[in-house]
Amino acid sequence: MPIANVRTPIPGPKSKKLIERWLKVEADSTGYQAPVVWDKGRGVTVTDVDGNNYLDWTSGVLVTNVGHAHSHLVKALQEATGKLLNNYECPSLYRVLAAEKLVGVLPPHMEKCFFLSTGSETVEAAIRIMKRKTGNFEIIGFHGGFHGRTYAAASVGGLAGPKRGYGPAMPGCIRAPFPYFYRCPFGSKTEEECAAKHIELLDDTVRANSVDSLAGLIVEPYQGAAGFIFPPKGYLKRLEDWARDKGLLFTVDEVQSSYGRMGTQWGHTLEGLEPDLMCIGKGIGSGYPVAAIAGRDEVLGCLGKGEMSSTAGGNPVGSAAVIAVLEIMEKENLAENARHMGDLIIERLRATQEKSKHLGDIRGRGLVMGLELVKHKKTKEPAPDLVRQAIDRCAQNGLLIGSVGIFGNVIRVAPPLVITQAEAHESCDIMEKVLLSLE
Ligand SMILES: Cc1ncc(COP(=O)(O)O)c(C=O)c1O
Repeated sequence: MPIANVRTPIPGPKSKKLIERWLKVEADSTGYQAPVVWDKGRGVTVTDVDGNNYLDWTSGVLVTNVGHAHSHLVKALQEATGKLLNNYECPSLYRVLAAEKLVGVLPPHMEKCFFLSTGSETVEAAIRIMKRKTGNFEIIGFHGGFHGRTYAAASVGGLAGPKRGYGPAMPGCIRAPFPYFYRCPFGSKTEEECAAKHIELLDDTVRANSVDSLAGLIVEPYQGAAGFIFPPKGYLKRLEDWARDKGLLFTVDEVQSSYGRMGTQWGHTLEGLEPDLMCIGKGIGSGYPVAAIAGRDEVLGCLGKGEMSSTAGGNPVGSAAVIAVLEIMEKENLAENARHMGDLIIERLRATQEKSKHLGDIRGRGLVMGLELVKHKKTKEPAPDLVRQAIDRCAQNGLLIGSVGIFGNVIRVAPPLVITQAEAHESCDIMEKVLLSLE
């Protein structure tokens, strides 16, 4: 039985009315999405208020890794909610169990964590810790990097959007070019060459900009908002070695790349990295807002009493989510399913690419893929307008997708990790139909 079933024009009549009411009362500041008002979700399926069913390739925004409204997670949240809603800085049994469970799945060199509320908050914390631990103030980030919209996180990021119109960014941020093989400015013929050139560029950039107060570096395992840009194999390891050589602290921002998304619990382990700090968000609560910073004990330990705290961090309900999500991931082998379903989807998409005039590049790992749309494959001119068309046409055909990209021309493929073979094929059929219809 197919899942996708859209019986009204999009937006449907109830969605249309609610969107009108919504825009009267909430700031209209979000990005472009299909005009669908979500009512409920289950697994990979989302149903709107008009009763239309969609397959979801967004997972919110790479959040609902264990699937929408997983019964084990829902039950755990209900139980915790009925007991206690906040304990501020005090421990609760939930908080202790959640920290033990999280530390239990961290890479062995990371011994501690601390719970916060959002991904941006973890990045702010990482930046503070890198400065505090070293006594220096310069932080290296990357062109295209996205770490959130709060001040330090946006400042260290390498996208103009979150910074434009707000005056000077935080002093001490040094941003270096990130290897984007599909559009390598050196026209590199191999990924290896692209990686090597970008390490040289990093060296040049830092030599020209640093005033000898380097504290640390923050990098995503793949760049999310910039367009799901996966660095050439080996680049991140070279980057880590470079940072160690300079005595810098090394932070990976795994807010979106972790929790099975890349086919493994943590994305950075695929490259054999040993970061000092890790930012964790999104999938950790799989829909409940919770986040955490994790790291080496001696690094997190630089903070004294009262130096890191958060009103909702470590609350019992978020902690219950942390425990339940890890239980589900283990029981259902979701990282493994992400690898298998990712292989299936990428193979289907590659077959579509051969027939499509506009699908310039496909890149991905596990269940996170970027489909870069271009006007012509030869010129690679970005086609953001086609991505908007695709978002609307996919929704009309029962598939929810989103867009990312420095040029706004990348479709994000990121379904919940519970996706089955039948759901993967059904959604790929819709995507192929839509991609081949674009003009
Ligand atoms: C890599 C990365 N870091 C940080 C953030 C910010 O997370 P939040 O929106 O939870 O503050 C995001 C959000 O998309 C992200 O993708």
